[in-house]
Amino acid sequence: MNKIIAVTNQKGGVGKTTTAINLAASLAKLGKSTLLIDIDPQANATSGLGLSKDREVSICEVIETPESIASAMVETEFSGLVILPARPDLAAMEVTLGTEDNRYFRLKEALGLVSFDYIIIDCPPALGLLTLNALSAANKILVPVQSEYFAMEGLGQLLQTIQQIRKGLNPQLELLGVVLTMLDRRNSLSGQVRSELKKHLGDKVMGVTIPRNVRLAEAPSFGKPISAYDKWSKGAKAYTKLAKIVARAA
Ligand SMILES: Nc1ncnc2c1ncn2[C@@H]1O[C@H](COP(=O)(O)OP(=O)(O)OP(=O)(O)O)[C@@H](O)[C@H]1O
Ligand SMILES: [Mg+2]
Repeated sequence: MNKIIAVTNQKGGVGKTTTAINLAASLAKLGKSTLLIDIDPQANATSGLGLSKDREVSICEVIETPESIASAMVETEFSGLVILPARPDLAAMEVTLGTEDNRYFRLKEALGLVSFDYIIIDCPPALGLLTLNALSAANKILVPVQSEYFAMEGLGQLLQTIQQIRKGLNPQLELLGVVLTMLDRRNSLSGQVRSELKKHLGDKVMGVTIPRNVRLAEAPSFGKPISAYDKWSKGAKAYTKLAKIVARAA
């Protein structure tokens, strides 16, 4: 069965795409067949793996016609990793899908037609129709949280949204965990954010934190996951550890 993990947080710039790309690539490196889905009109996961943002067949076509998923997936040069790319005009689908039947279940329908060990979905920073398609299709949610003072704000809202989705669109949905990103060891605030998170979420705080690491920020401009760009970097080690934890837990 596909294990489907949506990487989501309605807050922008918290490390969703960096986590989705590098978790997917690290799982693939561990020998798991992995599909990375870009469902964000910004298409950062698409360009971050070196693909152009104007491919003819993309997630747009899959949302329109779920059966087209096989023709939209692209094998990457990173062994075991396949991507379903996005395009900027995906943004229009928030509007065009607005009144259609089963509008929340298009991605779920498509994913019923493919078979992978893991499917990782990079969500946009909003709780619109696209994110709801991801959350309807997923079994688990992974929430990247930036280690900063405002991190806790919005998290409560996200946890409430998960509860609502469990009551309606997807009773199976579970929180896999919260992963602290862009941790700066010189900043004592990071420790405070972590203990605050622990207080509220206990063992749902993942047992690895992602350090602030310039190599992680550079890798997408070379179209590579960190494991291919600089496998000895702190960022690469952290994402390998996250992948091992995920592979054990889910
Ligand atoms: N651990 C890290 N160390 C250094 N830079 C990072 C790290 N994680 C992410 N970044 C950088 O921070 C910026 C935001 O990260 P990212 O794009 O992953 O966030 P996002 O949550 O996907 O953003 P959006 O909400 O716009 O989709 C990017 O420039 C990225 O390269
Ligand atoms: Mg992103």
